[in-house]
Amino acid sequence: MKIHALTWSQASQLREFILPEVLELPDLEDFWYLASAEVGRGILGLAVIDPQADGPLLLSLAVSPAARREGVASRLLEAAANVVGSNGGAALTVEYSLSPAEWPVLASLLEQNGFFQIQPERYAYLIPLAELNNHPVLTAARQRNSASVFPMSNLSAVALREFRLELERKELFPPDVLRQCDPHLSFFWLEDGHIQACLLLGNCQDGMVENLWTYLSPRARQKQALIYLLGAAVTAAANTLPPDSQVLFSCQTEASDHLVRHLSPSAAPVQSLRVYVRPTLQDQELPEEDAAGREPVTEHEVEEEAMASRELTEEEKKLRAERWNDLQMTPVTEDAPACRNCAHRIAGRLLSCEVYQTKPGPVMYGEACPSFSPVQ
Ligand SMILES: CC(C)(COP(=O)(O)OP(=O)(O)OC[C@H]1O[C@@H](n2cnc3c(N)ncnc32)[C@H](O)[C@@H]1OP(=O)(O)O)[C@@H](O)C(=O)NCCC(=O)NCCS
Repeated sequence: MKIHALTWSQASQLREFILPEVLELPDLEDFWYLASAEVGRGILGLAVIDPQADGPLLLSLAVSPAARREGVASRLLEAAANVVGSNGGAALTVEYSLSPAEWPVLASLLEQNGFFQIQPERYAYLIPLAELNNHPVLTAARQRNSASVFPMSNLSAVALREFRLELERKELFPPDVLRQCDPHLSFFWLEDGHIQACLLLGNCQDGMVENLWTYLSPRARQKQALIYLLGAAVTAAANTLPPDSQVLFSCQTEASDHLVRHLSPSAAPVQSLRVYVRPTLQDQELPEEDAAGREPVTEHEVEEEAMASRELTEEEKKLRAERWNDLQMTPVTEDAPACRNCAHRIAGRLLSCEVYQTKPGPVMYGEACPSFSPVQ
């Protein structure tokens, strides 16, 4: 079995080996293609790498059904890491969103080949719109009817542009998201004429509407803006979409995951996003992902820390003491119930322990851990 580097014009003849979504990307000619071939059997597998300077990514990996479990993918991963390393890349990254049932095969392949998971796994949940619409927390938020919430369709292009430019400067804004969302189902939180938060829903397709992006400035977070935005978006969706519609939440942070689980405790993840890396240069260490103890670096983080450490106003204390206690939108602490009395817990580490490089997501929210072992 030999590995060959192909040009795009050669690889374009092997489309059946490339993930369909990758074929839609604009820079196909700039990617690297590695094919595994054997005399008499032809092409057995293909890997596609995006050699982007801020971190080469493995975009696609596929092996012909007739050649599976012969180590073809493993050889391609080895070759891909070597190509990245010899071109100066410190690591090869794999970032996929798959259903929970699809992950074990790829996880086993990656872990056997020197990749390890960084960042906590991020989950996406499908929740019936009717369940959200009848949720007591959102009903209560609707009754309070905050004067700071506006549908996107009521906002001026100037206010939206200013908001987009400010967040682009902080590298927080996902490209194109404003164009993809439904202006009647997407809501913004304004204070003193400035946007402080938003919850954007996409257009409804096949009975499903997706929460494309949620942003909360530290100031908006303190005021429970998310609950009001969610209440407004869910009401608008329930008024216009078929009653059996579902809402897809792709949770980007532990806090949003926590909130979704609170709103719909029975929701099971339909997809999860995992990021794996494999270092390519022996003497180069990857940045530590565990944020514990790290100094805030970005403007946003500095602002967040300042908000977190300031004294709450009397009104905010009262709000917290009332019904919002369990929805503070703060990440779980290292003392999360499932880990508190576990012998494998490592003090100061939130995301990992002696058993898991990255703890399973549900464990971080207090659910039973298969590896729990009580302190003797
Ligand atoms: C996933 C895929 C690339 C694996 O290719 P492969 O050449 O069969 O993989 P390898 O032979 O190198 O397998 C290495 C390890 O991966 C794991 N693995 C691979 N296929 C597996 C399967 N079907 N079930 C369980 N584990 C599997 C095993 O740990 C295996 O080691 P083992 O054979 O010693 O048990 C191949 O099945 C494929 O093309 N699938 C469809 C496309 C796809 O899912 N691509 C990944 C995302 S782009």
